[in-house]
Amino acid sequence: MNVAIVGGHGNVSLRLARRLASRANTKVFSIVRNSAHNDDVAAAGATPVELSLEDSPKEKFAEVFTGKDLVYFAAGAGGKGGAERTRKVDFEGAVKIFDAIELVREPRPRLILVSSIDVRDHSKRPPHYTDADVKKSEELQKSLGSYLEAKHQADLDLVRRTAFKWTILRPALLTNDEGTGRAHVGKMHLDGSISREDVAHTLALLADRPDAAGLTIEVTNGEDKLEDALDAFIKKGETDWHS
Ligand SMILES: NC(=O)c1ccc[n+]([C@@H]2O[C@H](COP(=O)([O-])OP(=O)(O)OC[C@H]3O[C@@H](n4cnc5c(N)ncnc54)[C@H](OP(=O)(O)O)[C@@H]3O)[C@@H](O)[C@H]2O)c1
Repeated sequence: MNVAIVGGHGNVSLRLARRLASRANTKVFSIVRNSAHNDDVAAAGATPVELSLEDSPKEKFAEVFTGKDLVYFAAGAGGKGGAERTRKVDFEGAVKIFDAIELVREPRPRLILVSSIDVRDHSKRPPHYTDADVKKSEELQKSLGSYLEAKHQADLDLVRRTAFKWTILRPALLTNDEGTGRAHVGKMHLDGSISREDVAHTLALLADRPDAAGLTIEVTNGEDKLEDALDAFIKKGETDWHS
């Protein structure tokens, strides 16, 4: 399997690259915007490719995606550069990647997009939200409003696309704790968190799940074995939670 990771030097991406590159017959190409990151990417077992979501045209990304089976989008402005840059990277950068995949002649790669907790239409209360969730959501809006809006717009753009297969993963707030291999997969409350290692684990499992196409999957800390929880969710095929 040939894989490209956009945001290749990110904290989740390096963990994901390590997992995928250690598999037999899997080649990982990690897209970075800064050649100073090449050594870290190579140490994770991946081949660095230099492109910027903000500065490189979609045609250059399409060249990299040609011949790939799978593309991950795990990039993000990380709140650096204010609302304008957040929109540029987290929304417009994601759309650039969707457009680039559409430019690839078939067979096109699948896309797995890393979205976020509480990405949704804020005019409607999700039926499973408790009052505590609503309060936490209001806090998240205050601290991360432009980020969550950029992520929501990217998700909304993606779910309309039919030219390639995609899956959206929405992790809870990320930590640098050790991975547990355990999680809750499915509708989540907002008081949880999940380690970047467990998110990388989930993303690596999704590499083998083309049957997750069209699904939006939430993941947070929990007691279920990740493989089993993900498998059960995908088999249920729940599709009503895109926005
Ligand atoms: N933090 C949370 O609690 C949370 C929760 C849910 C979801 N997420 C999402 O999870 C994903 C992974 O998170 P993470 O912690 O691994 O993020 P991270 O460590 O901040 O990595 C993001 C990567 O995106 C890259 N990037 C930024 N601008 C770019 C550009 N113009 N062109 C190419 N690459 C660019 C950064 O490159 P540089 O290293 O060069 O800056 C960085 O390596 C992100 O999509 C994030 O939004 C985060």
